[in-house]
Amino acid sequence: MGRIWASQSALLLRDFLLIFLLFFGSQICDATERERTLAMIKPDGLLGNYTDKIKTIILESGFGIIKERMVQLDDEKAALFYAEHSGKSFFQSLVKYMTSGPVYVMVLEKPDAVSRWRALIGPTDARKAKVSHPSSIRAMCGSDLERNCVHGSDSPQSAAREISFFFGDISPAVTKHDEL
Ligand SMILES: *[C@@H]1O[C@H](CO)[C@@H](O)[C@H](O)[C@H]1NC(C)=O
Repeated sequence: MGRIWASQSALLLRDFLLIFLLFFGSQICDATERERTLAMIKPDGLLGNYTDKIKTIILESGFGIIKERMVQLDDEKAALFYAEHSGKSFFQSLVKYMTSGPVYVMVLEKPDAVSRWRALIGPTDARKAKVSHPSSIRAMCGSDLERNCVHGSDSPQSAAREISFFFGDISPAVTKHDEL
């Protein structure tokens, strides 16, 4: 009797361990694999009616779109988003462009989302993208270094700041991000 009970508890213990491993094992894997990035369709992309085309590319590339919204930036908010460029010669022009119409922001999720999205959009300068990455999104709908149609966070740290900028409490913290 005692032996049967002992072997049954061993089985129960084994099942418990198995379930525990399956459950927490998958949680740990998810945490390391999934990543989020901020994608933005800029005013020239919206004006050119590229939103649906870009969203199709995003979904066909296996990203989940976790959140999305249309935003009209004002001078103050555009300046805050690009705060680390505030001393640069192109800053006023950049703010003017970014406030010239609404932008469409999305939180994208998939493993390696930051670098995968940047690979899809192509080089920052859309003129160069048309030559070196003709199938990139910027080659499709951008014009030059400033009017480059889309934005992607340049690091997981920038992604966290930019996602909370548009979808959470606006963070006044300025982290360095080189991407326009
Ligand atoms: C975009 O779509 C709107 C509404 O359908 C249309 O009026 C406009 O001409 C389109 N713009 C371009 C650049 O195709």
